[in-house]
Amino acid sequence: MAGEKNEGKLDVREWLRNMRASMLATVAYGKMDERLELKEAVSEALKHPVPRFANWTFCFGGMTFFLFVVQAVTGILLTMYYQASPDTAYESVKFIMNDVRYGWLIRSVHRWGAELMILMIFLHMGRVFFTGAYKHPRELNWIAGVFLLAITLLFGFTGYLLPWDQKAYWGTTVGTQMANNVPLVGNFIRRLLLGGDTVSGITITRFFSFHVIVLPMSITVFLMAHFAMIRKQGVSEPL
Ligand code: HEM
Repeated sequence: MAGEKNEGKLDVREWLRNMRASMLATVAYGKMDERLELKEAVSEALKHPVPRFANWTFCFGGMTFFLFVVQAVTGILLTMYYQASPDTAYESVKFIMNDVRYGWLIRSVHRWGAELMILMIFLHMGRVFFTGAYKHPRELNWIAGVFLLAITLLFGFTGYLLPWDQKAYWGTTVGTQMANNVPLVGNFIRRLLLGGDTVSGITITRFFSFHVIVLPMSITVFLMAHFAMIRKQGVSEPL
């Protein structure tokens, strides 16, 4: 058959099509660069040599960021099938694990990524603390970091409820009960988190909204501030 005869041979027409596409991209890029000077901006952004004193422990911040990107990508893929309601959440997670192609992989990477991100953020904080990098003039960046830590932990806390299994339900019950112990405003915080007196449909909707909208938006703002300050001040030399 014709298809079998051509197997393994170079398809000249396809090769020409690819060439044409890459030439078009080059021309379009050239035209864009002429107007926006992208090449200059990109090389300016990338031309920052790593200081000699930086060792492997200086990678922890970047690794935390890498894991955040993994979480964002796998999280977006999970929202394509996950359904946040008491009647559907558990079943939709089961569906992701058993029926969606590579669903088990995406969900497992998201779960492990969450744990690794928390481990990495603590290692990063340790590096910053033990090299004294939180001191003047980087105090503000440490404070931005504290917000990043709180947001990362809240990602974990809100995500834990989403599978809506026994562990999720009782974990959230215990977690919100702990909030109750905050002096004066404890009960208010607990009710605010739960959307009532117990873990219910409102809680899962609320946690989902925080997990996929409020927290991602907040972490983006703080990451931008964190990176802008690092860019401005550079990484500090260990004491
Ligand atoms: C999502 C979480 C975070 C990400 C993605 C992140 C990322 C980074 C990166 C890439 C750097 C530069 C390289 C390095 O030192 O590793 C850095 C520096 C820094 N980070 Fe973070 N970070 C996070 C959380 C935190 C936390 C929780 C703290 C402290 C409470 C913190 C405090 C700092 C400080 C003070 C610096 C400047 C260090 C220096 O100048 O040597 N960061 N961060």
